[in-house]
Amino acid sequence: MKLLTYSPSHIAEIKQLFTQVFSDSEGESEGMLIGNLAYQLLTETDPQDLYGFIAIEDEQIVGSIVFTRLVFESGINAFLLSPVAIQTSYQGKGVGQQLIRFGINQLKERGVGLVFTYGDPNFYSKVGFNPISEKLAKAPLKMTYPEGWLGQSLVGEAFEPIIGNSYCVEALNNPEYW
Ligand SMILES: CC(C)(COP(=O)(O)OP(=O)(O)OC[C@H]1O[C@@H](n2cnc3c(N)ncnc32)[C@H](O)[C@@H]1OP(=O)(O)O)[C@@H](O)C(=O)NCCC(=O)NCCS
Repeated sequence: MKLLTYSPSHIAEIKQLFTQVFSDSEGESEGMLIGNLAYQLLTETDPQDLYGFIAIEDEQIVGSIVFTRLVFESGINAFLLSPVAIQTSYQGKGVGQQLIRFGINQLKERGVGLVFTYGDPNFYSKVGFNPISEKLAKAPLKMTYPEGWLGQSLVGEAFEPIIGNSYCVEALNNPEYW
């Protein structure tokens, strides 16, 4: 298994992976939605606000994760992990955890201080995320599932409350994803 930063030549295959994985798990329309989200994130986000990583096995992309900048009024250096997909036939073998750990280490090396995500706490707690109340850090949009708001500090300190609103990148600025 190779873990690496995506390059523009991977974008079509990454879109296909997200479409397929979410079609398998949540139906075709969710597959289209998340495939398009991944495509938009990778093609429309300012490169300095974006990190994307892939897992490759037998020359095929079997996993992909995207981090985009989350701007807080306090100016803290934070990113949001979303979305995440592991090819259906590769799920449950540790690829998701490996890829997320790899991505988080890359962000840490680049001076990112905080990482957030919005998803299943049972899975994301395995890679260091903890539930975050909105008193600690506000999500950028109103959430339908506040228990899924998760975060972790990458600078070895406890999570201090962050004052003020947060703002995600444009492609994620849509209530459908929250
Ligand atoms: C969720 C997902 C990213 C996990 O990646 P993965 O490679 O299958 O997960 P791993 O093998 O690294 O870890 C699996 C562990 O997480 C737990 N887990 C929690 N939720 C899970 C889920 N929805 N799917 C798989 N495992 C899940 C498992 O119990 C397992 O724990 P164990 O190792 O103690 O048995 C992947 O299954 C996937 O792409 N699912 C469909 C799309 C999706 O739901 N994306 C996430 C949106 S928030």
